[in-house]
Amino acid sequence: MAKSQEITLKIEGIATPCCAKEVKEALLNVKGVKKAFACPKRGIAEIEFDAEKVTDEQLIKVIEEAGFKAKVKEEGEEGELQALMKKFEAEFEKLTQKYNIPKKDITEHWNLVKKEAAEVYQRCCEWSLGHGLEIKDAEVYCQSAMLVGFGKLLWAEQTFKIEKEIKKLTDNEIKNLVADRYGKFAAKYAEIGNPCPIRKKQVKELYSGEELSLIPKTALNLALGCGNPVSFANLKSGETVVDFGCGAGIDLTLAARKVGPEGRVIGVDITPQMIEKEGQSEAEAGFPAERIEEHIGDIEKLKLPDSLADVVISNCVIILTPNKEAAYQEAFRILKPGGRVAISDMVFSEKIDPEITERFQSTWAGVVGGAIAEKDYLEIVKQAGFGQIKIVKRHFLTPEELFAMSTCPGTEFVPSPDPKDLEVVQGKVVSIKFIAIKS
Ligand SMILES: C[S@@+](CC[C@H](N)C(=O)[O-])C[C@H]1O[C@@H](n2cnc3c(N)ncnc32)[C@H](O)[C@@H]1O
Repeated sequence: MAKSQEITLKIEGIATPCCAKEVKEALLNVKGVKKAFACPKRGIAEIEFDAEKVTDEQLIKVIEEAGFKAKVKEEGEEGELQALMKKFEAEFEKLTQKYNIPKKDITEHWNLVKKEAAEVYQRCCEWSLGHGLEIKDAEVYCQSAMLVGFGKLLWAEQTFKIEKEIKKLTDNEIKNLVADRYGKFAAKYAEIGNPCPIRKKQVKELYSGEELSLIPKTALNLALGCGNPVSFANLKSGETVVDFGCGAGIDLTLAARKVGPEGRVIGVDITPQMIEKEGQSEAEAGFPAERIEEHIGDIEKLKLPDSLADVVISNCVIILTPNKEAAYQEAFRILKPGGRVAISDMVFSEKIDPEITERFQSTWAGVVGGAIAEKDYLEIVKQAGFGQIKIVKRHFLTPEELFAMSTCPGTEFVPSPDPKDLEVVQGKVVSIKFIAIKS
Protein backbone atom coordinates (compact mmCIF):
# COMPACT_ATOMS: atom_id res chain seq x y z
CA MET A 1 0.00 0.00 0.00
CA ALA A 2 1.21 3.54 -0.85
CA LYS A 3 2.91 5.22 2.12
CA SER A 4 1.39 8.67 2.61
CA GLN A 5 3.55 11.35 4.13
CA GLU A 6 3.01 15.01 4.92
CA ILE A 7 5.54 17.79 4.76
CA THR A 8 5.51 21.55 5.25
CA LEU A 9 7.98 23.56 3.16
CA LYS A 10 8.98 27.13 3.91
CA ILE A 11 9.01 29.09 0.63
CA GLU A 12 10.49 32.47 -0.09
CA GLY A 13 8.90 34.81 -2.58
CA ILE A 14 5.31 33.63 -2.73
CA ALA A 15 3.80 36.81 -1.29
CA THR A 16 0.97 36.94 -3.85
CA PRO A 17 -1.88 34.51 -4.55
CA CYS A 18 -0.59 34.11 -8.13
CA CYS A 19 2.76 32.86 -6.90
CA ALA A 20 1.08 30.53 -4.42
CA LYS A 21 -1.13 29.19 -7.20
CA GLU A 22 1.91 28.59 -9.37
CA VAL A 23 3.64 26.61 -6.61
CA LYS A 24 0.53 24.60 -5.92
CA GLU A 25 0.07 23.68 -9.59
CA ALA A 26 3.75 22.77 -9.99
CA LEU A 27 3.46 20.45 -6.99
CA LEU A 28 0.23 18.85 -8.16
CA ASN A 29 1.89 17.97 -11.46
CA VAL A 30 4.45 15.81 -9.68
CA LYS A 31 3.73 12.09 -9.76
CA GLY A 32 3.06 10.91 -6.20
CA VAL A 33 1.73 14.25 -4.87
CA LYS A 34 -1.78 13.73 -3.53
CA LYS A 35 -2.61 17.12 -2.08
CA ALA A 36 -0.87 20.47 -2.09
CA PHE A 37 -1.69 23.77 -0.50
CA ALA A 38 0.40 26.94 -0.69
CA CYS A 39 -0.26 29.95 1.48
CA PRO A 40 1.27 33.30 0.48
CA LYS A 41 0.64 34.87 3.86
CA ARG A 42 2.29 32.11 5.80
CA GLY A 43 4.91 31.51 3.08
CA ILE A 44 4.51 27.78 3.24
CA ALA A 45 3.34 24.81 1.20
CA GLU A 46 1.72 21.82 2.86
CA ILE A 47 2.03 18.66 0.80
CA GLU A 48 0.67 15.15 1.16
CA PHE A 49 2.59 12.70 -1.01
CA ASP A 50 3.42 9.06 -1.65
CA ALA A 51 6.90 8.63 -0.18
CA GLU A 52 7.56 5.65 -2.47
CA LYS A 53 7.13 7.79 -5.58
CA VAL A 54 8.66 11.12 -4.64
CA THR A 55 11.13 12.46 -2.04
CA ASP A 56 11.36 15.73 -0.05
CA GLU A 57 14.35 16.78 -2.15
CA GLN A 58 12.47 16.26 -5.40
CA LEU A 59 9.61 18.40 -4.12
CA ILE A 60 11.98 21.21 -3.14
CA LYS A 61 13.58 20.95 -6.58
CA VAL A 62 10.21 21.32 -8.32
CA ILE A 63 9.52 24.51 -6.37
CA GLU A 64 12.94 25.89 -7.14
CA GLU A 65 12.42 25.13 -10.83
CA ALA A 66 9.26 27.23 -10.60
CA GLY A 67 11.45 30.11 -9.43
CA PHE A 68 11.14 30.04 -5.64
CA LYS A 69 13.48 29.16 -2.80
CA ALA A 70 12.24 26.32 -0.59
CA LYS A 71 13.39 24.35 2.44
CA VAL A 72 11.80 21.97 4.91
CA LYS A 73 10.15 24.02 7.64
CA GLU A 74 12.09 23.57 10.80
CA GLU A 75 10.62 22.32 14.05
CA GLY A 76 9.63 25.23 16.28
CA GLU A 77 9.32 27.69 13.40
CA GLU A 78 6.02 29.22 14.26
CA GLY A 79 3.46 29.74 11.53
CA GLU A 80 0.21 31.63 11.86
CA LEU A 81 -1.79 28.52 12.55
CA GLN A 82 0.60 27.46 15.27
CA ALA A 83 0.27 30.88 16.87
CA LEU A 84 -3.48 30.50 16.71
CA MET A 85 -3.26 27.09 18.32
CA LYS A 86 -1.19 28.53 21.13
CA LYS A 87 -3.95 31.02 21.74
CA PHE A 88 -6.50 28.21 21.89
CA GLU A 89 -4.24 26.24 24.17
CA ALA A 90 -4.15 29.13 26.63
CA GLU A 91 -7.94 29.48 26.55
CA PHE A 92 -8.28 25.77 27.05
CA GLU A 93 -6.02 25.88 30.10
CA LYS A 94 -8.09 28.70 31.60
CA LEU A 95 -11.28 26.77 31.02
CA THR A 96 -10.06 23.55 32.61
CA GLN A 97 -8.85 25.49 35.64
CA LYS A 98 -12.05 27.51 35.93
CA TYR A 99 -14.20 24.39 36.11
CA ASN A 100 -11.62 22.18 37.71
CA ILE A 101 -11.92 19.72 34.80
CA PRO A 102 -9.15 17.16 34.47
CA LYS A 103 -7.54 17.82 31.08
CA LYS A 104 -7.89 14.19 30.08
CA ASP A 105 -11.67 14.48 30.37
CA ILE A 106 -11.94 17.01 27.58
CA THR A 107 -9.03 16.01 25.41
CA GLU A 108 -11.51 14.69 22.89
CA HIS A 109 -13.21 18.11 22.68
CA TRP A 110 -9.88 19.84 22.48
CA ASN A 111 -8.68 17.69 19.62
CA LEU A 112 -11.88 18.51 17.78
CA VAL A 113 -11.29 22.21 18.27
CA LYS A 114 -7.78 21.99 16.90
CA LYS A 115 -8.79 19.91 13.91
CA GLU A 116 -11.71 22.14 13.06
CA ALA A 117 -9.74 25.37 13.44
CA ALA A 118 -6.97 24.09 11.19
CA GLU A 119 -9.44 22.93 8.57
CA VAL A 120 -11.38 26.18 8.54
CA TYR A 121 -8.21 28.18 8.30
CA GLN A 122 -7.02 26.11 5.36
CA ARG A 123 -10.40 26.21 3.62
CA CYS A 124 -10.51 30.00 3.91
CA CYS A 125 -7.06 30.37 2.41
CA GLU A 126 -7.85 27.93 -0.42
CA TRP A 127 -11.08 29.74 -1.18
CA SER A 128 -9.37 33.11 -1.47
CA LEU A 129 -6.72 31.71 -3.73
CA GLY A 130 -9.28 29.93 -5.85
CA HIS A 131 -11.14 33.20 -6.35
CA GLY A 132 -8.00 35.12 -7.23
CA LEU A 133 -8.27 37.22 -4.09
CA GLU A 134 -5.33 38.55 -2.20
CA ILE A 135 -4.90 37.46 1.32
CA LYS A 136 -4.48 40.98 2.60
CA ASP A 137 -5.34 40.31 6.13
CA ALA A 138 -4.79 36.83 7.45
CA GLU A 139 -6.54 37.84 10.66
CA VAL A 140 -9.88 37.45 8.85
CA TYR A 141 -9.11 33.82 8.21
CA CYS A 142 -7.73 33.30 11.66
CA GLN A 143 -10.92 34.75 13.03
CA SER A 144 -13.03 32.28 11.07
CA ALA A 145 -10.97 29.46 12.44
CA MET A 146 -11.08 30.88 15.91
CA LEU A 147 -14.82 31.33 15.73
CA VAL A 148 -15.32 27.66 15.05
CA GLY A 149 -12.76 26.74 17.66
CA PHE A 150 -14.21 28.97 20.30
CA GLY A 151 -17.68 27.75 19.43
CA LYS A 152 -16.52 24.26 20.24
CA LEU A 153 -14.84 25.41 23.41
CA LEU A 154 -17.95 27.23 24.51
CA TRP A 155 -19.95 24.14 23.80
CA ALA A 156 -17.56 22.09 25.90
CA GLU A 157 -17.70 24.74 28.61
CA GLN A 158 -21.47 24.68 28.61
CA THR A 159 -21.61 20.90 28.63
CA PHE A 160 -19.33 20.66 31.60
CA LYS A 161 -21.01 23.48 33.42
CA ILE A 162 -24.42 21.88 33.05
CA GLU A 163 -23.18 18.45 34.03
CA LYS A 164 -21.43 19.84 37.06
CA GLU A 165 -24.50 21.71 38.18
CA ILE A 166 -26.85 18.76 37.66
CA LYS A 167 -24.53 16.36 39.42
CA LYS A 168 -24.92 18.46 42.51
CA LEU A 169 -28.71 17.98 42.62
CA THR A 170 -30.01 17.53 46.12
CA ASP A 171 -32.84 15.11 46.90
CA ASN A 172 -35.26 18.03 46.92
CA GLU A 173 -34.04 19.26 43.56
CA ILE A 174 -34.55 15.78 42.11
CA LYS A 175 -38.10 15.68 43.44
CA ASN A 176 -38.85 19.15 42.05
CA LEU A 177 -37.45 18.09 38.69
CA VAL A 178 -39.57 14.92 38.69
CA ALA A 179 -42.73 16.79 39.72
CA ASP A 180 -42.11 19.44 37.09
CA ARG A 181 -41.69 16.85 34.30
CA TYR A 182 -44.74 14.80 35.27
CA GLY A 183 -46.77 17.96 35.84
CA LYS A 184 -46.05 19.21 32.34
CA PHE A 185 -46.82 15.80 30.89
CA ALA A 186 -50.16 15.63 32.74
CA ALA A 187 -51.16 19.11 31.61
CA LYS A 188 -50.31 18.44 27.97
CA TYR A 189 -51.50 14.88 27.40
CA ALA A 190 -54.54 14.29 29.65
CA GLU A 191 -56.91 14.95 26.75
CA ILE A 192 -55.03 13.60 23.77
CA GLY A 193 -53.00 10.79 25.30
CA ASN A 194 -49.32 9.91 25.35
CA PRO A 195 -47.95 10.34 21.80
CA CYS A 196 -45.27 7.65 22.36
CA PRO A 197 -46.43 4.48 20.54
CA ILE A 198 -44.17 2.26 22.64
CA ARG A 199 -45.66 3.47 25.92
CA LYS A 200 -49.17 3.07 24.47
CA LYS A 201 -48.37 -0.49 23.42
CA GLN A 202 -46.92 -1.27 26.86
CA VAL A 203 -50.14 -0.21 28.60
CA LYS A 204 -52.20 -2.39 26.28
CA GLU A 205 -49.99 -5.36 27.08
CA LEU A 206 -49.93 -4.78 30.84
CA TYR A 207 -53.70 -4.65 31.37
CA SER A 208 -56.31 -7.17 30.29
CA GLY A 209 -59.07 -6.23 27.86
CA GLU A 210 -61.56 -6.18 30.71
CA GLU A 211 -59.36 -3.90 32.81
CA LEU A 212 -58.79 -1.58 29.86
CA SER A 213 -62.54 -1.24 29.42
CA LEU A 214 -62.85 -0.16 33.08
CA ILE A 215 -60.00 2.36 33.13
CA PRO A 216 -61.16 5.98 32.73
CA LYS A 217 -59.90 7.83 29.65
CA THR A 218 -57.78 10.39 31.54
CA ALA A 219 -56.06 7.68 33.61
CA LEU A 220 -55.38 5.65 30.46
CA ASN A 221 -54.07 8.69 28.58
CA LEU A 222 -51.61 9.45 31.38
CA ALA A 223 -50.62 5.87 32.27
CA LEU A 224 -46.88 5.59 32.76
CA GLY A 225 -46.41 2.38 34.69
CA CYS A 226 -44.27 -0.66 34.00
CA GLY A 227 -46.62 -3.25 35.43
CA ASN A 228 -50.09 -3.86 36.78
CA PRO A 229 -49.77 -4.24 40.57
CA VAL A 230 -53.52 -4.74 41.12
CA SER A 231 -53.29 -7.90 38.99
CA PHE A 232 -51.04 -9.62 41.56
CA ALA A 233 -51.88 -7.73 44.81
CA ASN A 234 -54.72 -10.16 45.51
CA LEU A 235 -56.95 -7.36 46.80
CA LYS A 236 -60.00 -8.34 48.82
CA SER A 237 -63.26 -6.60 49.47
CA GLY A 238 -63.02 -4.18 52.41
CA GLU A 239 -59.22 -3.79 52.33
CA THR A 240 -57.38 -0.47 52.58
CA VAL A 241 -54.97 0.20 49.72
CA VAL A 242 -52.44 2.99 49.35
CA ASP A 243 -50.96 3.67 45.90
CA PHE A 244 -47.46 5.21 46.04
CA GLY A 245 -47.13 7.61 43.09
CA CYS A 246 -50.66 7.03 41.82
CA GLY A 247 -50.29 9.33 38.80
CA ALA A 248 -53.65 9.94 37.14
CA GLY A 249 -55.15 6.92 38.92
CA ILE A 250 -54.96 3.96 36.55
CA ASP A 251 -54.33 1.46 39.36
CA LEU A 252 -56.39 3.33 41.95
CA THR A 253 -59.60 3.00 39.97
CA LEU A 254 -58.99 -0.72 39.43
CA ALA A 255 -58.15 -1.15 43.12
CA ALA A 256 -61.33 0.70 44.12
CA ARG A 257 -63.41 -1.84 42.18
CA LYS A 258 -61.60 -4.76 43.84
CA VAL A 259 -61.95 -3.54 47.45
CA GLY A 260 -65.50 -2.29 46.86
CA PRO A 261 -67.32 0.48 48.71
CA GLU A 262 -66.39 -1.06 52.09
CA GLY A 263 -62.74 -0.73 51.28
CA ARG A 264 -60.59 2.37 51.34
CA VAL A 265 -58.36 3.57 48.51
CA ILE A 266 -55.75 6.30 48.93
CA GLY A 267 -53.50 7.74 46.23
CA VAL A 268 -50.36 9.75 46.96
CA ASP A 269 -48.43 11.62 44.33
CA ILE A 270 -45.85 14.39 44.48
CA THR A 271 -47.18 16.07 41.32
CA PRO A 272 -50.22 18.31 41.94
CA GLN A 273 -51.32 18.13 38.28
CA MET A 274 -51.37 14.31 38.49
CA ILE A 275 -53.56 14.45 41.61
CA GLU A 276 -55.87 16.87 39.82
CA LYS A 277 -56.13 14.46 36.87
CA GLU A 278 -56.70 11.59 39.28
CA GLY A 279 -59.81 13.46 40.52
CA GLN A 280 -60.94 13.71 36.92
CA SER A 281 -60.38 9.98 36.36
CA GLU A 282 -62.39 9.18 39.49
CA ALA A 283 -65.32 11.21 38.16
CA GLU A 284 -65.02 9.58 34.73
CA ALA A 285 -65.11 6.18 36.44
CA GLY A 286 -68.47 7.20 37.92
CA PHE A 287 -67.23 7.07 41.52
CA PRO A 288 -68.44 9.54 44.12
CA ALA A 289 -65.65 11.99 45.04
CA GLU A 290 -65.05 10.37 48.44
CA ARG A 291 -64.52 6.87 47.04
CA ILE A 292 -60.83 7.56 46.37
CA GLU A 293 -58.79 9.79 48.69
CA GLU A 294 -55.92 11.56 47.09
CA HIS A 295 -52.99 13.42 48.61
CA ILE A 296 -50.29 15.54 47.12
CA GLY A 297 -47.30 14.20 48.98
CA ASP A 298 -43.89 12.61 49.02
CA ILE A 299 -43.77 8.85 49.55
CA GLU A 300 -40.56 9.31 51.52
CA LYS A 301 -42.44 11.39 54.11
CA LEU A 302 -46.12 10.51 54.26
CA LYS A 303 -48.72 12.27 56.33
CA LEU A 304 -50.61 9.01 56.85
CA PRO A 305 -50.91 7.28 60.25
CA ASP A 306 -49.13 4.08 61.27
CA SER A 307 -50.74 0.68 60.60
CA LEU A 308 -53.41 2.07 58.29
CA ALA A 309 -53.21 -0.09 55.20
CA ASP A 310 -53.57 -3.72 54.22
CA VAL A 311 -51.74 -3.20 50.95
CA VAL A 312 -49.33 -0.71 49.43
CA ILE A 313 -49.19 -0.82 45.65
CA SER A 314 -46.83 1.13 43.43
CA ASN A 315 -46.21 1.20 39.71
CA CYS A 316 -42.89 2.49 38.40
CA VAL A 317 -42.43 5.17 41.04
CA ILE A 318 -39.91 4.17 43.71
CA ILE A 319 -37.22 4.10 41.01
CA LEU A 320 -37.77 7.86 40.70
CA THR A 321 -37.12 8.57 44.37
CA PRO A 322 -33.63 9.45 45.53
CA ASN A 323 -34.16 7.81 48.94
CA LYS A 324 -35.65 4.37 48.35
CA GLU A 325 -34.90 3.32 51.94
CA ALA A 326 -37.21 6.08 53.23
CA ALA A 327 -39.97 5.07 50.79
CA TYR A 328 -39.90 1.42 51.95
CA GLN A 329 -39.68 2.44 55.62
CA GLU A 330 -42.81 4.53 55.09
CA ALA A 331 -44.58 1.62 53.39
CA PHE A 332 -43.65 -0.58 56.35
CA ARG A 333 -44.85 2.02 58.88
CA ILE A 334 -48.28 2.60 57.33
CA LEU A 335 -49.00 -1.11 56.79
CA LYS A 336 -50.83 -3.19 59.36
CA PRO A 337 -48.89 -6.18 60.69
CA GLY A 338 -49.17 -8.89 58.04
CA GLY A 339 -49.82 -6.24 55.39
CA ARG A 340 -48.17 -6.50 51.99
CA VAL A 341 -46.60 -4.50 49.23
CA ALA A 342 -47.32 -5.30 45.57
CA ILE A 343 -44.73 -3.45 43.55
CA SER A 344 -43.89 -2.99 39.93
CA ASP A 345 -40.62 -1.15 39.42
CA MET A 346 -37.45 -0.91 37.33
CA VAL A 347 -34.00 -2.19 38.28
CA PHE A 348 -30.69 -3.12 36.70
CA SER A 349 -30.26 -6.90 36.50
CA GLU A 350 -26.62 -6.47 37.58
CA LYS A 351 -24.26 -3.85 38.93
CA ILE A 352 -23.56 -1.15 36.35
CA ASP A 353 -20.37 0.87 35.98
CA PRO A 354 -20.81 3.76 38.48
CA GLU A 355 -19.55 6.24 35.87
CA ILE A 356 -22.53 5.37 33.68
CA THR A 357 -25.10 5.42 36.47
CA GLU A 358 -23.68 8.77 37.58
CA ARG A 359 -24.30 10.11 34.11
CA PHE A 360 -27.91 8.89 34.19
CA GLN A 361 -28.25 10.49 37.61
CA SER A 362 -26.76 13.77 36.42
CA THR A 363 -29.98 14.45 34.52
CA TRP A 364 -32.11 12.06 36.60
CA ALA A 365 -32.83 10.46 33.23
CA GLY A 366 -36.34 8.97 33.08
CA VAL A 367 -36.55 5.71 34.91
CA VAL A 368 -32.83 4.91 34.65
CA GLY A 369 -31.86 8.06 36.58
CA GLY A 370 -32.59 6.43 39.90
CA ALA A 371 -32.11 2.79 38.93
CA ILE A 372 -30.06 0.46 41.11
CA ALA A 373 -29.19 -3.23 40.89
CA GLU A 374 -32.02 -5.64 41.73
CA LYS A 375 -29.97 -7.22 44.52
CA ASP A 376 -29.44 -3.84 46.22
CA TYR A 377 -33.07 -2.88 45.68
CA LEU A 378 -34.40 -6.04 47.33
CA GLU A 379 -31.93 -5.58 50.18
CA ILE A 380 -33.53 -2.18 50.86
CA VAL A 381 -36.95 -3.88 50.98
CA LYS A 382 -35.57 -6.44 53.46
CA GLN A 383 -33.83 -3.82 55.57
CA ALA A 384 -37.12 -1.91 55.88
CA GLY A 385 -38.48 -5.01 57.65
CA PHE A 386 -40.24 -6.88 54.84
CA GLY A 387 -39.99 -10.64 54.42
CA GLN A 388 -41.28 -13.40 52.14
CA ILE A 389 -40.27 -11.45 49.05
CA LYS A 390 -41.72 -13.20 46.02
CA ILE A 391 -40.82 -12.13 42.50
CA VAL A 392 -43.94 -12.49 40.40
CA LYS A 393 -42.41 -11.58 37.05
CA ARG A 394 -39.36 -10.06 35.39
CA HIS A 395 -39.38 -8.41 31.99
CA PHE A 396 -36.14 -7.36 30.27
CA LEU A 397 -36.69 -4.16 28.33
CA THR A 398 -36.28 -4.20 24.55
CA PRO A 399 -34.06 -1.43 23.07
CA GLU A 400 -37.17 0.53 22.08
CA GLU A 401 -38.69 0.16 25.54
CA LEU A 402 -35.41 1.14 27.15
CA PHE A 403 -35.25 4.37 25.17
CA ALA A 404 -38.87 5.21 25.96
CA MET A 405 -38.44 4.46 29.67
CA SER A 406 -35.14 6.31 29.95
CA THR A 407 -36.87 9.44 28.71
CA CYS A 408 -40.08 8.96 30.74
CA PRO A 409 -42.48 10.82 30.65
CA GLY A 410 -41.24 11.86 27.19
CA THR A 411 -38.35 13.30 25.20
CA GLU A 412 -39.93 16.77 25.41
CA PHE A 413 -39.50 16.74 29.16
CA VAL A 414 -36.37 14.70 29.82
CA PRO A 415 -32.93 14.97 28.20
CA SER A 416 -32.15 11.74 26.33
CA PRO A 417 -29.23 9.81 27.79
CA ASP A 418 -26.15 9.26 25.64
CA PRO A 419 -26.94 6.39 23.21
CA LYS A 420 -23.52 4.87 24.05
CA ASP A 421 -24.52 4.66 27.73
CA LEU A 422 -27.87 3.15 26.83
CA GLU A 423 -26.09 0.57 24.72
CA VAL A 424 -24.04 -0.50 27.75
CA VAL A 425 -27.16 -1.09 29.87
CA GLN A 426 -29.12 -2.64 27.03
CA GLY A 427 -30.43 -6.05 28.12
CA LYS A 428 -29.75 -5.21 31.77
CA VAL A 429 -32.78 -3.07 32.57
CA VAL A 430 -35.64 -5.07 34.01
CA SER A 431 -39.12 -4.34 35.15
CA ILE A 432 -39.78 -6.51 38.22
CA LYS A 433 -43.04 -7.30 39.91
CA PHE A 434 -42.96 -8.57 43.49
CA ILE A 435 -44.86 -9.08 46.71
CA ALA A 436 -43.38 -8.69 50.19
CA ILE A 437 -44.96 -9.05 53.62
CA LYS A 438 -44.70 -6.97 56.78
CA SER A 439 -44.08 -9.93 59.01
C1 LIG B 1 -43.83 6.73 35.97
S1 LIG B 1 -45.14 7.64 36.72
C2 LIG B 1 -46.23 6.33 37.17
C3 LIG B 1 -47.60 6.82 37.53
C4 LIG B 1 -48.60 5.73 37.83
N1 LIG B 1 -48.21 4.87 38.90
C5 LIG B 1 -48.91 4.93 36.58
O1 LIG B 1 -48.71 3.72 36.59
O2 LIG B 1 -49.35 5.53 35.60
C6 LIG B 1 -44.39 8.10 38.22
C7 LIG B 1 -45.26 8.90 39.16
O3 LIG B 1 -44.60 8.95 40.43
C8 LIG B 1 -44.75 10.22 40.98
N2 LIG B 1 -43.64 10.42 41.94
C9 LIG B 1 -42.33 10.47 41.68
N3 LIG B 1 -41.62 10.62 42.81
C10 LIG B 1 -42.52 10.66 43.80
C11 LIG B 1 -42.41 10.82 45.22
N4 LIG B 1 -41.23 10.97 45.81
N5 LIG B 1 -43.55 10.82 45.95
C12 LIG B 1 -44.76 10.68 45.35
N6 LIG B 1 -44.92 10.54 44.03
C13 LIG B 1 -43.81 10.52 43.27
C14 LIG B 1 -44.71 11.14 39.78
O4 LIG B 1 -45.31 12.38 40.05
C15 LIG B 1 -45.49 10.34 38.75
O5 LIG B 1 -46.86 10.63 38.77
